[in-house]
Amino acid sequence: MSANAIPTPLRLNRTTGRTSSFLASSIGRKVVMALTGLVLFGYVVVHMLGNLQIYLGPAALNAYAVKLRAMPALLWGVRVLLFASAVLHVWAAVSLTRANVAARGIGYRERRNRESTYASRTMRWSGVILLLFIVYHLLHLTLGTVHPGFVPGDVYHNVVRGFQMGIAPFFYVLAMLALGLHMYHGVWSLMQTVGLSHPRYDRLRYAFAAFITALVVLGNLSFPIAVMTGLLKDRSSSRAATAARR
Ligand code: HEM
Repeated sequence: MSANAIPTPLRLNRTTGRTSSFLASSIGRKVVMALTGLVLFGYVVVHMLGNLQIYLGPAALNAYAVKLRAMPALLWGVRVLLFASAVLHVWAAVSLTRANVAARGIGYRERRNRESTYASRTMRWSGVILLLFIVYHLLHLTLGTVHPGFVPGDVYHNVVRGFQMGIAPFFYVLAMLALGLHMYHGVWSLMQTVGLSHPRYDRLRYAFAAFITALVVLGNLSFPIAVMTGLLKDRSSSRAATAARR
């Protein structure tokens, strides 16, 4: 048999090995999506819990940030893992969408049978909003390039001041709603991919996805809302101003 007679998927297997044929399969890309989603989801939960220390005051939040920076290997390890996960997550999403469009007939039949929710139908839009949010968020609170009064190291001041100005807090609120939709369907389908798809567990899956999503979204929404309502005030800068006045 000539090389040209070998069907394309088989030729792919022989030349690029098992890993790439796994990644080329739709189940492989779904697994990549689930694993990278798990990493990103884990980060978002831990990040929100860490940020809750803002309610303990500037000293507690700033000391937490100092502690994280004192472990550069961990900090950079997490950053590299997050970046790689985000890139792979987007790659898997785009390539699965393309494959669905290419096999439109099959996709259409599947779609009719699948239970669809508002969250599942808006995954692409919520994903795009989240990507834009992450870029803005890094420029806003990590690099400070789009922040009106960024003070390196004064995380408490940066968050409070950052939510006192312009449309920033409203963009955060919009992004957290997109995060809610994305996480709810993401957590639900992640559990499906890892095999928790028995109808007996469906209610539990919905309940868990709703609970963890509500926890993260309400926690995150509380920060801009607490600043806008005056519950959180820029005590660190007011202390600095008081010291400067003396
Ligand atoms: C209102 C909600 C949020 C607040 C108040 C907040 C606050 C912050 C702050 C203050 C920093 C800088 C920390 C430092 O320099 O020590 C930061 C960094 C970061 N945030 Fe958020 N964040 C929020 C939501 C999110 C969400 C939803 C995501 C992901 C979707 C996210 C992802 C990140 C990432 C990736 C970094 C960079 C971490 C690093 O420098 O290694 N944040 N956030």
